[in-house]
Amino acid sequence: MGTHIEPGYATMKPASAQDEAKLASGIKAIDHYLRPGMKVGLGSGTTSHWFVRALAARVERGFEVVGVPTSNATRELALELGVPLTDLGTIDQLDVTIDGADEIDHRGSMIKGGGACLLWEKIVAAASKKMVAVVDDKKVFERLGRFPLPIEVIPFGWQSTERLLRELFVSAGFDKSVRITTRMKNGERLLTDSGNLILDCHLEAIADPISLAPRFNAIPGVVENGLFVGIASEMIVGHADGSAEVVVIRALP
Ligand code: 5RP
Repeated sequence: MGTHIEPGYATMKPASAQDEAKLASGIKAIDHYLRPGMKVGLGSGTTSHWFVRALAARVERGFEVVGVPTSNATRELALELGVPLTDLGTIDQLDVTIDGADEIDHRGSMIKGGGACLLWEKIVAAASKKMVAVVDDKKVFERLGRFPLPIEVIPFGWQSTERLLRELFVSAGFDKSVRITTRMKNGERLLTDSGNLILDCHLEAIADPISLAPRFNAIPGVVENGLFVGIASEMIVGHADGSAEVVVIRALP
């Protein structure tokens, strides 16, 4: 069974089973969490973009919401599809943010930043009453870390910041040869929407993300890290058959 494509749906259609699962979680997020008049954080990445397309179809039929995008790419998509936008200078608080994740565990800890948007994503999530993660069923893991952890750093002196990051990893019990790579795009160092670099940290397994997450931002040069802990209160897990379930995340101890 494929996901139901709504009338007026943006021209793009799911091209794979994983796309179907992503769209399913986006549609479920709209049905379950969004009400007319809400202010909504719009996530980044392919799953969030399926959510934005599904939302645009509702807006076209008269559903009134206003969004705050978490990246320039999401802003462009929302504008192209007619989703009304605002910004954090105009409103105080968002009702909910719907955003994807690269990995999520059963306590709701996430690795984010695969699309290099983690800084704006964390700012928008922090301005929201609730953050809901939309993922397909391939993103849920017992333990985080197979996806490299993105850290956003200031370009000035980034090599020094990288050395301090390595020291942090060693003090946290990781191997001193842990691989840290600079995110590239078209043969150049990728610059985020804020003009920073991304260092991808290939940790393989993160035993205790809750203890690790607060340590990064104390390093000069680190702007933000891609560990999102205690932020998502619920996740929606989408499947290729078009179904999706809402999972309430256990409260942190
Ligand atoms: C972007 C993100 C995305 O939410 C994350 O990378 C998931 O993307 P996708 O839905 O394409 O797998 O954090 O910075």
